[in-house]
Amino acid sequence: MMLRYGIAALALAAMTGAIAFHQPATAGTESPKIAASAHVYDTYCAQCHGVQRNGKGVNTIGLSVQPRDHSDTVGMSSLPREQMIKAITDGGASVNKSALMPAWSAVLSKEQIEDMADYLTYVCKCNQGK
Ligand code: HEC
Repeated sequence: MMLRYGIAALALAAMTGAIAFHQPATAGTESPKIAASAHVYDTYCAQCHGVQRNGKGVNTIGLSVQPRDHSDTVGMSSLPREQMIKAITDGGASVNKSALMPAWSAVLSKEQIEDMADYLTYVCKCNQGK
């Protein structure tokens, strides 16, 4: 399956690319999709949403609206998956949030965005006990 190889390659890239920031997500416990999404996040999202996923990225100085804290379990639990996907695909303005949140449909595939929604649910620990 081509897809599987693609994901494996991405995961490998994530492991090598993300090492400087944090432990590679994979150490055998996390799925390749999670690792791949972590790498996408480090590349495109961390500048605003933070290497720690807490909304405190290096690029937030001067932003009039602060990026969402993706590590906030309570706050993120109130964000429906469909809205997450819409916000990532078409940008903050599409869900009546700040346009400072860019649209990613030209950069990320539908599948990458779906995987990112899973990843964000993982990061905020919103699915504990489910
Ligand atoms: C240029 C800075 C910037 C970048 C880069 C960025 N974001 Fe955001 N993001 C924001 C801001 C600011 C908000 C808060 C919008 C608001 O609350 O009005 C936000 C909000 C969000 C939300 C919550 C939307 C909602 O409805 O509350 C999600 C989910 C999100 N971002 C995901 C991502 C993902 C995934 C990436 C990387 C692919 C990313 N963001 C990259 C600035 C950014």
